[in-house]
Amino acid sequence: MTSLESASTLPAKVYCDAEVVRDERDAIFRRHWQYVGYESQLPAVGASLFSEVAGTPLVIVRTREGLRAYEAVCRHRAGSLEACHAGGEHFLRCRYHGWSYGHDGALINATEMQGCKDFEPGEVRLPAIELANLQGLIFARLRSGPVDFDALIAGIHERVAASGHELARLQHHATVSYDIDCNWKTYVDNFLEGYHVPLVHPSLNAILDYRSYRTELAKWYSLQSSPLDSAPNAYGSGEALYYFLYPATMLNILPDRLQTNRVVPINAQRCRVIFDFFYPREWTAEARALKYASDAAFSEQVQQEDIEICIAVQRNLASGSYVSGRLNPKRERGLPHFQQLWLNDMSSS
Ligand code: FES
Ligand SMILES: [Fe+2]
Repeated sequence: MTSLESASTLPAKVYCDAEVVRDERDAIFRRHWQYVGYESQLPAVGASLFSEVAGTPLVIVRTREGLRAYEAVCRHRAGSLEACHAGGEHFLRCRYHGWSYGHDGALINATEMQGCKDFEPGEVRLPAIELANLQGLIFARLRSGPVDFDALIAGIHERVAASGHELARLQHHATVSYDIDCNWKTYVDNFLEGYHVPLVHPSLNAILDYRSYRTELAKWYSLQSSPLDSAPNAYGSGEALYYFLYPATMLNILPDRLQTNRVVPINAQRCRVIFDFFYPREWTAEARALKYASDAAFSEQVQQEDIEICIAVQRNLASGSYVSGRLNPKRERGLPHFQQLWLNDMSSS
């Protein structure tokens, strides 16, 4: 592994090639844990939640035995599934020809298939998907991969608690999604450094203490942290923690607030970023709405500043003018860490 002092960026080509994005799907996105939703979306037995990972639709259901997840693709001719409730039973039904599956993933009804030779409905099942939980945040992975969930998040509970944050007392309030004309790694790279904050985000810079801005590296994640300036501001006082969990989940933890980012590749030069906002459960609905109104306005401003710079960088990466550049060992420590994990996955695939 290259030292931080010797690190350079990944070559521009890997931010622009359609073939790389296809390889990343198998080598990275199908084999790693990704945040797909939150537990309170499944409040009672029978509840279901549709999400997606690595381009594969998935459904999570709450059964008496706990949460279960399946690939939500019908085994007949790949139709999409929907949640149904009839006769006191919860099940999943295909929108195309109506085959139905139980919450254990088994096919329970294949409409008008009686004449089909050697067809055993009892042998047809939706493929199961592994799930894990980080204080109410649900993570999924499609295939086995190089890291167990406990190893992925090792140390996060302790560090979050030591900063006085309690994720378990937060509940979901709102979701905002952005489609951005840049490669998903361009967005991740930008998230991973505070080097750009003074120039790109002057209003954020006013409330973060840039001199005390630190980046810590764990095996599978990095953490940027900054004391919040004690002057009254949009975030209150305390410590801001910005986690990046490889490959594409971010947890932005601030006093009485969590905002998650999911980065989803769309194609080589486009990605979707989904924000979920969480606030304390014990607050009144009015208090949460008020806090969200000010957070959302500020978050939107910062996000638009990031979007503008990411689009410009993506355009320049694709221009042919640039191949690779040197990284700042003090201010961009998170980038070589992420890029090395990316290289490990892509070279072993
Ligand atoms: S594709 Fe699902 S029932 Fe036909
Ligand atoms: Fe930024």
